[in-house]
Amino acid sequence: MEIFKSPEEMRGWAREQALSGKTISLVPTMGYFHEGHLSLMRLAAQQGDLVVVSLFVNPTQFGPNEDLDRYPRDFERDMTLVRQEKVAAVFAPTPESMYPQGFQTEVSVRNLAIYLCGRTRPGHFAGVTTVVSKLFNIVQPDVAVFGEKDFQQLAIIRRMVCDMNIPVRIVSLPIVREADGLAMSSRNANLDPANRVAALSLSTALYLARERCRQGVTSVVELTKILEAHILSFAGTAIDYASFVDSETLEPMTVVDERTVLALAVRIDGKVRLIDNGYVIPKPTN
Ligand code: PAF
Repeated sequence: MEIFKSPEEMRGWAREQALSGKTISLVPTMGYFHEGHLSLMRLAAQQGDLVVVSLFVNPTQFGPNEDLDRYPRDFERDMTLVRQEKVAAVFAPTPESMYPQGFQTEVSVRNLAIYLCGRTRPGHFAGVTTVVSKLFNIVQPDVAVFGEKDFQQLAIIRRMVCDMNIPVRIVSLPIVREADGLAMSSRNANLDPANRVAALSLSTALYLARERCRQGVTSVVELTKILEAHILSFAGTAIDYASFVDSETLEPMTVVDERTVLALAVRIDGKVRLIDNGYVIPKPTN
């Protein structure tokens, strides 16, 4: 497995592969791998000849008071895990090589970025779309694989790829959960045992919304009241948002239907911000 630290090296290798007729599937990550990331890599391996994993904790998508410094990192552990997967190359650039002096360009998607995380994390999605377009330009993948936990991020990246005619096929993987329902996230590593219990407020809120909806409660005002009370019954939780939105436009809904996604962001003990989401009326699986 190759490890590239500079955009030039990465791009040179990617060009050689393309010239020899190989297709590339990219898995963009910020590292500290868990089963969710490994599942993305396995899905990527089914989509093309060679898998490239990018590992970069992108500073431009963190606000000034966010957890950039506390974001979990362990390069050696990540390399041990990634070597067990069918990964041809890891791209792990330095912040200086991605954002050299004089850097001043931003790629942003307007409307989809104003809802949900965009309200409480100004600039976050511009940071994501800027770094993802840079990764696409450097790695030149045919396919890129993203997790559905970052539901708004996925919608925004799909929009960017379509609007900018970027020749990359976007493939998504459903949320990978722990046995008790907690959505896998690198940030879970920052939860102490008490906070780990409070973190279950998100997935259980989703299951509760589904149950109440099955029982006939489809008013968003009513469901929101039920969910807020449920989440706040866990010690140390503060709700960033618990929103019922249209799965494509991300606009808020008033009555639940097949397109409605419940999107959740909850701060645990003021320190760890977790997100989760799901269709309120789950799609039948094939
Ligand atoms: O989802 C993430 O881990 C990041 O937002 C991404 C897509 C790797 C961009 O930094």
